[in-house]
Amino acid sequence: MAHIRIALLPGDGIGRDVMDAARIVLERIGLDAEYSVGDIGWEFWRREGNALPDRTVRLLRETHCALFGAITSKPKAEAEQELEPGLKGKGIQYVSPIVRLRQEFALRTNLRPCKSYPGNPLNYRENIDLVVFRENTEDLYSGVEFFPIPAELKSTLVRLHKAMKRFEAVPDGETALSCRIITAGASRSIVKDAFEYARQHRYRHVTVVEKPNVLRETSGLFLREARSVAREYPEIELREANIDAICMWLLKNPRDYGVLATSNMFGDILSDLCAQLVGGLGFASSGNIGDDYAVFEPTHGSAPKYAGLYKVNPIAMLLSVKLMLDWLGESGKAAAVEKAVARVILEGSVRTYDMGGTASTLDMAKAVAAHL
Ligand code: NAI
Ligand code: MG
Repeated sequence: MAHIRIALLPGDGIGRDVMDAARIVLERIGLDAEYSVGDIGWEFWRREGNALPDRTVRLLRETHCALFGAITSKPKAEAEQELEPGLKGKGIQYVSPIVRLRQEFALRTNLRPCKSYPGNPLNYRENIDLVVFRENTEDLYSGVEFFPIPAELKSTLVRLHKAMKRFEAVPDGETALSCRIITAGASRSIVKDAFEYARQHRYRHVTVVEKPNVLRETSGLFLREARSVAREYPEIELREANIDAICMWLLKNPRDYGVLATSNMFGDILSDLCAQLVGGLGFASSGNIGDDYAVFEPTHGSAPKYAGLYKVNPIAMLLSVKLMLDWLGESGKAAAVEKAVARVILEGSVRTYDMGGTASTLDMAKAVAAHL
C-alpha cells in the first residue's frame, strides 16, 4: 500500500480543469501515493445544503493532506435561491467550504509565494520574490457576524464603548456587524512561521503588515506579539508597515520586500496584489498549513466563464503541488516540479491565453511533465 494518502478536491469550474493538469504532473513524478477524490463545492450546496459534506470531512481525516481546486461561492440570497426545492426555506446557511476547512482543521498558516520566473511576459518587474504569510483562521473572517444586530448586543456595546453611541439611533435592519477577532496565539504563530521561513531560506528581513494607528487594539496586539517573536531571531530585521502604505510601496519597489506576515483579511488583499506583480492569478500558489494537516490550492477561484474549457493557466496549481511536495518532505521532487515550471516559462513556446498564447491547460501540464 502507498504510504502517502492524498485527497483530491477538484471543486467547481476551473478547479476541475487545473486538477486534471495536476494529475498529469503527479503521475509523471511517480510519488508513492494513493489518491482519493472528494466532493466539495456548489453542486453539493444545491443538492445537499452543504458544500463540504460530512463524508468529505471524514475522507480528509483519513489522508495526510489535500490538494484543492476551487469552489464557487455566491451571496446569501442567491445561495438560498439555488437550493433544491426540498431544502429551501429551512434556514440552511451557506458556509464557504474553504473557510470551514481552514477553521475545522486548524490550518493556521496560509503560505503564498509570488516569484517572477524569468521569461514570463506578465512579470511586472524581474527578480520579484515575495512570500506572504497570512493568518488563516480569525480576524474579520472569524465568521462572527450579525445582521440585524441583536438588541442585547447593541445595548451592551453602547454601554461599554463611547464610539458605539453614534450608531445607537440607526434603525434595526440598517446596521451589520462583523467582529475582528485577533488572538495573541494565532498572531505569534503566523509571525513565527514567517521568521522560521526567513531563517531557513536566508531572507534578511520580515515585514509585518497591520494598521495599529487606527485598529489600536487588534493590530496593536498583533504587532506586540510580532515584536516579541522577532527578538528570537536577532539576525533577521523586523520591518513594520501599514496595509495601505505597503500596497503603494509594493507597486513602487517590489524588490525591496521578501517575507511578509499579516492577519487574515490584509493577507487576502495583499496576496492578490503580490500575485499580480508576478503574472496574476494563473501563477499564485498557496498552502493552508496546520500542525498535522494541510490543504494546498491555487489562490484563484472557479472562474465560471472558463469552466471546462481547459483554457486557464495551470501553473498556480502546479506550484501548489510543489508546495505540497515540500510539506510532505519530498523536497527533491518539489524542486524538480518548480524547475520544470520555470523551464516551460523561460522557453516560452507553450503559453496559455493569459500569457498571450493558445496552449490549453493540459498542453501546459504536459510540457511541464516532459521536463520531469
Ligand atoms: P477567479 O479567481 O475565479 O477569477 C477571476 C479572473 O481571474 C478570471 O475571470 C480570469 O480572468 C482570471 N483567472 C483566474 N484563474 C486563472 C488562471 N488559472 N489562469 C488564467 N487566468 C485566471 O475570481 P472571481 O471571478 O472573483 O470568482 C469566481 C468564483 O470563485 C466566485 O464564486 C468566488 O467566490 C470563487 N472563489 C473561490 C476561491 C477558492 O476556491 N479558494 C477563491 C476566490 C474566489
Ligand atoms: Mg482571496
